[in-house]
Amino acid sequence: MKTTDKIKPTVFAIFGGSGDLTWRKLMPSLFNLYLQKNMPEKFSIIILDRLDLKIEALRKHFLDGINTFSGHNKVTTKSWAAFAHNISYLQGDFKKPEIYNLLKEHCTKLEEDWHTQAQRIFYMATPSVMFGIIPVQLKNAGLSGDHKWTRIVVEKPIGADFESAETLNNTFTDCFMESQIFRIDHYLGKETVQNILAFRFANPMFEPIWNRRYVDYVTITVAEDIGVEHRGEYYDGAGALRDMIQNHLMQLLCLIAMEPMVSFDADEIRNKKVDVLHAVRHIPPDSISKYAIRGQYGKGHNGSKRVCSYREEEKISLHSNTETYAALKLFVDNWRWHDVPFYLRTGKRMPRQVSEVTIHFRAVPHKSFPLSAIPDWQTSCLVISIQPDEGIVLRFQAKKPGIRLLLKPVAMRFNYEESFSVPVPEAYETLLWDVMNNDATLFMRSDQVNAAWKIIMPVLDFWKANKAVDFPNYSAGTWGPESPEGFFNPGHMWSSPTELLEEIKPGKK
Ligand code: BG6
Repeated sequence: MKTTDKIKPTVFAIFGGSGDLTWRKLMPSLFNLYLQKNMPEKFSIIILDRLDLKIEALRKHFLDGINTFSGHNKVTTKSWAAFAHNISYLQGDFKKPEIYNLLKEHCTKLEEDWHTQAQRIFYMATPSVMFGIIPVQLKNAGLSGDHKWTRIVVEKPIGADFESAETLNNTFTDCFMESQIFRIDHYLGKETVQNILAFRFANPMFEPIWNRRYVDYVTITVAEDIGVEHRGEYYDGAGALRDMIQNHLMQLLCLIAMEPMVSFDADEIRNKKVDVLHAVRHIPPDSISKYAIRGQYGKGHNGSKRVCSYREEEKISLHSNTETYAALKLFVDNWRWHDVPFYLRTGKRMPRQVSEVTIHFRAVPHKSFPLSAIPDWQTSCLVISIQPDEGIVLRFQAKKPGIRLLLKPVAMRFNYEESFSVPVPEAYETLLWDVMNNDATLFMRSDQVNAAWKIIMPVLDFWKANKAVDFPNYSAGTWGPESPEGFFNPGHMWSSPTELLEEIKPGKK
């Protein structure tokens, strides 16, 4: 990592900053960066919102969020006081020009006090209905023009379908240059996700077998044990396909399937990623059930606790047709991957939280071992475990010691906790630091967002036109609905996360 004294003085303006995202993620991350001396020497955090709030109460609220979410030990009064005096509040309506003029005055005043120009970062931590309004108002107020010193940050949902995403992206690019727009997918900030690039391209042994000749299929699972929690209002209009697959799982797909980059330049990496999405085979609208599965959880268990069905959750309609589980089978039609299925699945209220990618290698061309030697035959596979047990497992066959010939699957493992004795940074710390450093490598470009929408549109359209008649079709605490016939190619299936993750727990033999 670079040293911080190079970061220019920065004004961080957070629209909708009194909300949950700032409380849980942004402020704890900014504070951690501050403690690690990774904030610029001169910085100011301006919270903008509609509500009539007192700055002292707001600071106290942020401190409470930091104590709850930052993962650091107790915050000292001294460090908090030094950080908190950089936080200020501006009240106003984001649809009207007044608050933008106030913000401009505030920025100018700070620059005068600091005797230097400051970079200005506008973060839209608002409901998505404001995403089309704030950039236009910023532009009208003359706040978007300085390409080198001004940036805008936005997070999903970027649109609800291809058309709305394209319209929104056009609004952004009408007001800011593409190089100024930082679209966050927080999965890209995760260490384990970034490590996919290092693992694939900084080691010579995997890349030669990373293709259709050696790989049979790939599974990507992002499972959560939590339900919809208090986000019913947003989630019921989104569903698992939009909420997770269009963004986080597509990012994982890109990193696994992309061609090697020529350099570590942001656009070079993003070009390679978008090439993957452009090569994804169009899902035929007349056979959606062979390519997509949807599910919704009913009553069940979360550990030993009984939990309600999705339709009984807060702010969810009793007849909701929204999917809380979605799975896709995709093909990347290029020389490397032609006809290798990539199975992606995500769901809420599954038995445990686990995100992992499994590369299932092809079977050896012929089995020279007698059947009696291979009672537990399993093809070799590589598991990239993204969370919560971060690591990599390579599973292969080995001879079991003994006078008889018996092969058993065994595992070689890399575990972050064992190998590195430093804490893994929170995704937002990395991403906010990158925004301040003007490094767009881990952010999505508009063409990538649009391409990801294009892939899922046939499924979204089909599901919208054909309501699910079997919802709820999986019980809370299970791995989702049965896969319909024809979804998996013969011999393929989801890998069992629990079993593989057990193998990488420290101390486990
Ligand atoms: C968000 C989704 O983008 O990612 C949530 O909107 C989901 O529904 C969350 O729970 C998962 O993120 P993480 O980092 O907890 O895996």
